[in-house]
Amino acid sequence: MASSPVDLLGVARILATETGELIVKAREGTVGVSATKSSHIDIVTEVDLAAERHLRQRIAELRPDDAVLGEEGQDTPGTSGVTWVLDPIDGTVNFLYGLPSYSVSVAAVTGPPTPEEWTIEAGAVYEGGTRSLWSAARGEGSWLDDLPLHRGPGPGPGLSSTLLGTGFQYIADRRALQGVLVAKMLPQVRDIRRLGSCALDICYVAAGRLDAYYEHGLAPWDFPAAALIALEAGVLVEGLDGAPPNTTLTLAALPGTFEALHDALKAAGAARLWDTP
Ligand code: IPD
Ligand code: CA
Ligand code: CA
Repeated sequence: MASSPVDLLGVARILATETGELIVKAREGTVGVSATKSSHIDIVTEVDLAAERHLRQRIAELRPDDAVLGEEGQDTPGTSGVTWVLDPIDGTVNFLYGLPSYSVSVAAVTGPPTPEEWTIEAGAVYEGGTRSLWSAARGEGSWLDDLPLHRGPGPGPGLSSTLLGTGFQYIADRRALQGVLVAKMLPQVRDIRRLGSCALDICYVAAGRLDAYYEHGLAPWDFPAAALIALEAGVLVEGLDGAPPNTTLTLAALPGTFEALHDALKAAGAARLWDTP
């Protein structure tokens, strides 16, 4: 079965759009918490589970030889070298409360299925609040619906004019440390936004709706689709010191803004955030 970035983009768009429409319709009914995970505020709804079931069923039909790494299910091995990385609802707390910033995030990666080693081939993020589709294929560009996204080559704004997105973990001790860091960043930037869906935060950098984004402690399924969308639009998406985007810390911004943010975060202690007493 053909597995070029464009082939995988076509499937990613189908998966994200179908599942996005499924969750938008489910939001018209009553949504309740069905379980909690890492803490009492880390919730999963019936709709998260139904959305992941739908994604897995469609992957089994369309790409039966591929592996699956999804937030709400067991890892499924494959034989093709392609792994689908799934976040059935990114922004579940927004979804529960009826806030519009929630999405379905679907990425196709090759290589070992870990953020340090994989190559992101294609990605699609369906934005529930606007019913729009963000997508990208490696080397081919990125789009918001049919509109190509072009943000590079920069330079982006200086740090003091930067509208900065970020997010927080579900574990209280970690949040406390993230709060100390964000308090150091707030006086240095235009303002801070916490929108509640990592995938949309990064897509918004790709469209210039945010100037920059950083977050510690992401999960592997939170960011690969959006990272490719931003990269293909000309945005830098990396960890610290040139590392690929990863679960420890991921930053996204145009060149110029990126370096200023990177250095300000390091000066504020971002490299050892979880080590802080
Ligand atoms: C969360 C969202 C949030 C981010 C958290 C993620 P979920 O994903 O992306 O914006 O701050 O780190 O866990 O739990 O809604 O899939
Ligand atoms: Ca997520
Ligand atoms: Ca999720």
